[in-house]
Amino acid sequence: MLLDNKLEQLLINVSNKAALSSFYLVGKKDKNLADKAAVDAMRVELNKIDMKGEIVIGEGELDEAPMLYIGEKLGSMNGPELDIAVDPLEGTNFAANNLPGALSVIAIANKNDLFKAPETYMNKISANVSEAGVVDLDYSVKKNISNLSEYKNKKPEDLTACILDRPRHKNIINELDKLGVNLKLITDGDVSGALLVSDEKYGVDLFLGIGGGPEGVLAASALDAFNCKFQGRFLFEKEKDKQRALMMGVKDLNKKYNLKDIVSGDSIFCATGVTSGDLVSGIKLNNDEFISETLITHKSSGLKRIIKTVQKI
Ligand code: FBP
Repeated sequence: MLLDNKLEQLLINVSNKAALSSFYLVGKKDKNLADKAAVDAMRVELNKIDMKGEIVIGEGELDEAPMLYIGEKLGSMNGPELDIAVDPLEGTNFAANNLPGALSVIAIANKNDLFKAPETYMNKISANVSEAGVVDLDYSVKKNISNLSEYKNKKPEDLTACILDRPRHKNIINELDKLGVNLKLITDGDVSGALLVSDEKYGVDLFLGIGGGPEGVLAASALDAFNCKFQGRFLFEKEKDKQRALMMGVKDLNKKYNLKDIVSGDSIFCATGVTSGDLVSGIKLNNDEFISETLITHKSSGLKRIIKTVQKI
């Protein structure tokens, strides 16, 4: 079933309200409180929608998160059966410290069209390439860069790679540096990082490295609408995570997933800015109104744009 356009408006409203709720806690040095505000608002708004919704990517399992946990049912229970992936506050440190890049993020798809996995790390790669074999999670950094350089007809010195600035990425960062590739090192927020390949205006040619699995699934939804390449491999370090993944239906724990394995049908993605960042501007208050920017993508309708909304508080 194609998701209808009414859902686009409803989802913009959900991510707007979540972003506004955490906006009030920007700079308060309490990332959990800012996250909770977004979670609560998202849950209230999702429950107003006529749907039989189920969280497939959320705040964790029931025993870890009281709300928006994986498996939680949301909506009026009338209407379509939908899978819901949420990251109510992506970049909790950004919000707590009033830094650029905090977002409220949500994606929906028809039931069973979004990958279900516990919260673990994922090794990811994305690029604005539709052909197979140009970039691949299993290629060396050198091979990915030389292929991309040929494909884009740009010298490695004219390519930019985005990666989370983490000690675990030391070797990749050194290799990119050795190849002369420009770096965009991000301190957090790899949903945004992965999406920066989607448009030339962001000046990023390749995103790679290990970040959150949930963030990978969310990014895949938007990258699908941009016809970009995305691959991810979940990293299950703890035995508990492996068992959970198996229980949730993950058959091969080491599988490299292509975008279509992660988002198999139509999907709608919304990311609203809490603080201004690379993708969208943050919330602005104006008397009794708030102004927000949401990047929305909808695969089947071809919608990919930033929508500015002015709403009464
Ligand atoms: P939170 O918003 O949950 O704090 O996540 C921020 C983030 O930077 C994600 O964008 C990224 O996927 C993940 O954390 C990386 O995890 P880690 O900080 O453990 O490297």
